[in-house]
Amino acid sequence: MRIGMLTSGGDCQSLNATMRGVAKTLYENVEDVTIFGFLEGYKGLMYGEYEKMSSGNFSGILTEGGTILGTSRQPFKLMKQPDPDGNDKVQLMKGTYKRLKLDCLVMLGGNGSHKTANLLREEGLNVVTLPKTIDNDLWGTDMTFGFQSAVNIATNAIDCIHTTAASHGRVFIVEVMGHKAGWLTLHAGIAGGADIILIPEIPYDIKYVVDAINKRKKQGKRFTILAVAEGALSVEDAALSKKEFKEKRKNWKFPSISYEIAHAIQDMAGEEVRITVPGHTQRGGEPCPYDRVLSTRLGAAAAGMIMRQEYGNMAGIRNNKIVSVPLQEVAGKLKTVNPDDPIIMEAKSIGICFGDNPIAR
Ligand code: F6P
Repeated sequence: MRIGMLTSGGDCQSLNATMRGVAKTLYENVEDVTIFGFLEGYKGLMYGEYEKMSSGNFSGILTEGGTILGTSRQPFKLMKQPDPDGNDKVQLMKGTYKRLKLDCLVMLGGNGSHKTANLLREEGLNVVTLPKTIDNDLWGTDMTFGFQSAVNIATNAIDCIHTTAASHGRVFIVEVMGHKAGWLTLHAGIAGGADIILIPEIPYDIKYVVDAINKRKKQGKRFTILAVAEGALSVEDAALSKKEFKEKRKNWKFPSISYEIAHAIQDMAGEEVRITVPGHTQRGGEPCPYDRVLSTRLGAAAAGMIMRQEYGNMAGIRNNKIVSVPLQEVAGKLKTVNPDDPIIMEAKSIGICFGDNPIAR
């Protein structure tokens, strides 16, 4: 059996653990297996840059962050455009697959990478995928690997801010990654005891944010901590068309949304605000135990799909059961936080402000 493997898009903590799960299962159950590890994601597949792997390559990597294969961003929207030398990228990838006589390509990636995987499936390649991203925004799975590890790091950042905030009596903002989804901010915000959580799915009205800060002051609380998603949106911004929003952000004087919010809080509440952006630390370091288990389960499941020739699917998890999700269902869909989800209601019931009207609760 000849298998190609690649990691695509932004990295996360549990990519190696997942590849190990796939490889160990194959080596354990298939007599003759050769794995070709493509370097730097789809780029390696396009240009035939790979390493012939052996079982030793997958030993000792369960706890290692990053990816032993390297990764790169190859945006889906550019996949149908020729490369700098005028070559058709899809044909290049198909060419490598055919030349190496692969039986299947295993792709570990997030949203954009799944669109490309689905395109390769449509082009006739056998593809099996695994859901990677700290954003947890991949459709078809309750959980993506990397997410819980990132929650740990973002929570730790909020925990650290808590002690200094308590000493100084200031307003603090911790800006959390997550792209256009609020999962990471929501979970780290609740776990870290943030007083205000702002996520893209619930556009905030700065008036309610300031009210929540003032309310805490009146209660004698010396500090307020906001967990703000990098993709958080004000009600005004949420009402803009895509074009208007792009235009506004082009001439923006702030480096990120937290700075705009801090500026408004300083103006309206006269409060000193400090901003912490943990940034890419949220994707770094070792995978947490939850992710190691999830990666092992998903990896074993993906190998099972390959052995049964159930191609064209992503291994996911729903209600703690491993499931197989058709790629055409995953590609192009985003899983975002439902503002009416019980977790939001529960968070609101303990007094967490989401920047929306508290009367409507
Ligand atoms: O998708 C993972 C993610 O870390 C997002 O949370 C973030 O918006 C983005 O990638 C950052 O991308 P890059 O590493 O290319 O700066």
